[in-house]
Amino acid sequence: MKIINNPEELRKNIEILKKEGKTVGLVPTMGALHYGHISLMKQSVLQNDITVVSVYVNPIQFGPNEDYERYPRPIEKDIQVCQDNKVDFLFMPTNETLYNKNFSTYIYNNNISKIMCGVTRPTHFQGVCTVVAKLFNIAMPQRAYFGLKDYQQYTIIRQMVEDLNFNIEIVGCPIVREESGLAMSSRNTYLSQEEKVQATGIYKSLCLAKQLFAEGKSIKDIKSAVEENILKIPNGKIDYIELRNSQNLREVTDSDKNIVIAVAVKVGNVRLIDNMVCEK
Ligand code: PAJ
Repeated sequence: MKIINNPEELRKNIEILKKEGKTVGLVPTMGALHYGHISLMKQSVLQNDITVVSVYVNPIQFGPNEDYERYPRPIEKDIQVCQDNKVDFLFMPTNETLYNKNFSTYIYNNNISKIMCGVTRPTHFQGVCTVVAKLFNIAMPQRAYFGLKDYQQYTIIRQMVEDLNFNIEIVGCPIVREESGLAMSSRNTYLSQEEKVQATGIYKSLCLAKQLFAEGKSIKDIKSAVEENILKIPNGKIDYIELRNSQNLREVTDSDKNIVIAVAVKVGNVRLIDNMVCEK
């Protein structure tokens, strides 16, 4: 495995391999790698000749009072995880190489970046789209891998690829959960043992919602049931509960057949997101 910090160096390496006819898969991450990230790597290794994993805590997707400074950065462990999972290139750029002092061009989704997480994190998806577009241009992959855990991010990236004509297949990978049902996240390290147990209430409420949807209950009733359940979490505070079309995140009516139920909940001081896709 090659560890590369410089964008131009990665690009040169990839150019040579692509000339040889090799296919490239990209897995963008912010590190503190866990089984959720590993599932993306495995899928890329399966589908491509070369897998590039980026580990970069992207400053421009964090708001002023968010956790950029304290975001976990276990570099040595991340290197080992990538090595153990047959990654070919680990790309770890520095802020200076990605955003030089004249940096001034951003990508902004003018529609679905304003809802759900975008309400409390108004610049978040602009930061995500911008860095992901840069990574696409640097690594030039045929495929890129995103977790359904961040369902809004996945949908916005798919929209960006369509809108800006990136010739890249976006592969969505299922949510990996702890045995308890808690969706794996680098931010779970902020939770106390007790909070981790309490946070499993989120998954349970999503399972209930899926069942109610399959039974044909109304959107309003499902939302109320989820709310009632999540409010049982001690120190739990609901940021949002949204039921939306799973293709494009449009608002739904009772006649919709494919929806995603997405929630953001603060457990203590830790903001967690989770979702479940439901069909009937
Ligand atoms: P990060 O939170 O590190 O996640 C990297 C990728 O791993 C994302 O596509 C995310 O959806 C996926 N992922 C995280 N937890 C998962 C889980 N439990 N199951 C399945 N997939 C999971 O998302 C980001 O980083 C950043 O916004 C990034 C796209 C790298 C841009 O900076």
